[in-house]
Amino acid sequence: MSDLSHLETSLIEAVNAAASEAALEAVRVTALGKKGSVSELLKTLGSMTPDERKERGPLINGLRDRVAAALADRKATLQEEALSARLAQERADVTLPVQEGPQTRGRIHPISQVIDELTAIFADMGFAIAEGPDVETDFYNFTALNFPEGHPAREMHDTFFFSPDAKGERKVLRTHTSPVQVRTMQGQKPPIRVICPGRTYRCDSDQTHTPMFHQVEGLVIDRSAHFGHLKWILEEFCKAFFEVPNVKMRFRPSFFPFTEPSAEVDIQCARKGGDIRFGEGEDWLEILGCGMVHPNVLRNVGLDPDEYQGFAWGMGIDRIAMLKYGMPDLRPFFEADARWLSHYGFRPLDLPSLAGGLSV
Ligand code: DAH
Repeated sequence: MSDLSHLETSLIEAVNAAASEAALEAVRVTALGKKGSVSELLKTLGSMTPDERKERGPLINGLRDRVAAALADRKATLQEEALSARLAQERADVTLPVQEGPQTRGRIHPISQVIDELTAIFADMGFAIAEGPDVETDFYNFTALNFPEGHPAREMHDTFFFSPDAKGERKVLRTHTSPVQVRTMQGQKPPIRVICPGRTYRCDSDQTHTPMFHQVEGLVIDRSAHFGHLKWILEEFCKAFFEVPNVKMRFRPSFFPFTEPSAEVDIQCARKGGDIRFGEGEDWLEILGCGMVHPNVLRNVGLDPDEYQGFAWGMGIDRIAMLKYGMPDLRPFFEADARWLSHYGFRPLDLPSLAGGLSV
């Protein structure tokens, strides 16, 4: 039928001429849409005599099927062409050098790294983390820790005092993390096993002292916690932290108002040139203070010293960071110099763990 073959030729031409999927859709609507030319033809079948329908039916349906097939073909071709064009345009040059993103260029400060390391070690021994405020009352920083009023030990700390408030109370920047011991014992019942890392402040500045520095406090309170446990914990800590199979430690008698007996702890090391090695050598390096919690401190927080006892220690985080990572001067730690940080800092995604390594 020439009318049908004419229509078919023009529709197929239009299909093949469509240069985009939108243009193709427009052709589809003019042919197969509700009012499309082919749809209109299909509608005429209803009013035909059976004989006419027998003849025209297959012709019109055949036309519809061929136009639909041509539309589908053209659509697939257009999609393929679009994909190839995109692939050609978005080609990556794999020979270019890798550009580091901000996540890989950033560095973790050695203090944060060392806090993560010691947290991993003590968490493995069952310690929880406790924290307290940097601005402390005289009570928590001194009195509750058994520093008598006017005792020279208060002066030893080079304390930063705030001006007296309306009640005449002089707050302080905490001079050590030991007040967190008191807050922890007030806030929870024994058995207690916590470490308290945090910022501390003293009016002091030279190569190995800065007015703001960091300590980590440890506290264990139980019915039978004793000095032997303390020694074992510190020894295990030092081996894990300095990543050596053995350390030799020396406990020297000392004095702190909040412990009795008290000791300062040195670890054995070898100094070769500017290098320090742990677990060998003839030198001793002081790394922490410790002792059995003084009965007065227990009483001050409402614990009965006849029922409970325990031990505590305090360690300079900056100091052990300098020792482990061979940094000779403490002051640049807090100068926010990006060059120092890119040299001494740690990769952000290398999280320290006992299983995966502390300082990989
Ligand atoms: N608070 C002490 C200081 O700042 C360190 C310290 C010593 C803490 C002995 C303790 C301890 O818990 O038992 O120098």
